[in-house]
Amino acid sequence: MKDFDYLGTGEVYLDSACQSLRPKCVVDALDNYYYKHNSCGERVKYKWGVETDEKVEATREKVLKLLKLSGRKYTVSFTLNTTYGINLILSQIEPSHFKKVITSEIEHNSPFLATMAFSERTGLPREVIERNEDGSIDVKECDFSKAVVVLNCASNIDGRKLLNIKDVVKAVHKAGGIIIIDGAQTMAHSLDIVQGIEADAICFSAHKMYSASLGVIVWRDDLMKYLVNGFLGGGMVDDVEKDSFVLSAEGKEHRYTRFESGLQAWGEIVALGKAIDWINGLPKSAWKNLEANYTELFEFLDDSDKVHMVNTKANPTMSFYVDGLDSHLLGSALSRENIMARTGYFCVHYYLDHVLGLPPLVRFSLGLHNRPEDIEKVKTIMKKVIQ
Ligand SMILES: Cc1ncc(COP(=O)(O)O)c(C=O)c1O
Repeated sequence: MKDFDYLGTGEVYLDSACQSLRPKCVVDALDNYYYKHNSCGERVKYKWGVETDEKVEATREKVLKLLKLSGRKYTVSFTLNTTYGINLILSQIEPSHFKKVITSEIEHNSPFLATMAFSERTGLPREVIERNEDGSIDVKECDFSKAVVVLNCASNIDGRKLLNIKDVVKAVHKAGGIIIIDGAQTMAHSLDIVQGIEADAICFSAHKMYSASLGVIVWRDDLMKYLVNGFLGGGMVDDVEKDSFVLSAEGKEHRYTRFESGLQAWGEIVALGKAIDWINGLPKSAWKNLEANYTELFEFLDDSDKVHMVNTKANPTMSFYVDGLDSHLLGSALSRENIMARTGYFCVHYYLDHVLGLPPLVRFSLGLHNRPEDIEKVKTIMKKVIQ
């Protein structure tokens, strides 16, 4: 794909679940901001600032549109990454509204540890629920009453999805709880599962969806009623007196400031708008190529008796180990061949190490930049390794 033609011949990047590569137009948008209108947003009146404001506002609208959520109910705030977003919300929830916090066994440490910290801070008990092999949850088995629920809707191990997300959100709300979705692995290739889902918040990382490093929180306006003020600063108030203040977020127009303390990553926010345009403009063939690439690689690995896949089906993200081979050594060997892949537990220590008892793994996570020749190369090297 010409958007990634800066990639050298033979360089095979397979770590998209961590950070996807950025198409050139996204890097150009960043460049343009830094070279042409490098200004603070939402505070300055000169023309560079006006341009920044317009683009930042447009990005908020594009995010809502991408998620098929209404601006009448939802607000988009920017932050550092998914982890920061989840922590920002959890650390400011007033516990008296709730009875417990729930997360699931396959979570990334980002929600897994943040829910531990929430439980420690509030004294509310924490439950870790099981996920079915396909990623769904047995709603009838769960007691969501007055629970703060934090779940991913796609896993960073094997891409399994929270297939019954609609039922889960409905059940949580019916039981008087709230649900925060970890959308880190969803936005790049599993967007359809989360579109139109009316969770209380969805947190994700722009750097995993072909954009610059940035976090996004999309949240229901009525989440405000559960929050206490725990992380405040510049850009958040309409007035300040000696011992009191008025939050700008009280009014709908500036509600996004509730999670945006201090100056933001304006260039990165502008770049996200460009990345969303790019995603929306991709031809169907781009997705078909991705699917062909990951299916071929999955089937090749799955065919070998010596390779133990965590995946039960093909997905752009796949994890495995090879009999008798240390995954970290394998990762280094692949790197010497210019193949960039991750090894270890991918911040899912509890599930992979303590529930499944697996050794450290190798993860191949593909993206839209991958070429058929990348897959051929990986297959050739892996064949040698396996033999
Ligand atoms: C499912 C999932 N949740 C959360 C995160 C944390 O994302 P970040 O490091 O961008 O905060 C990741 C990162 O890989 C992830 O895969």
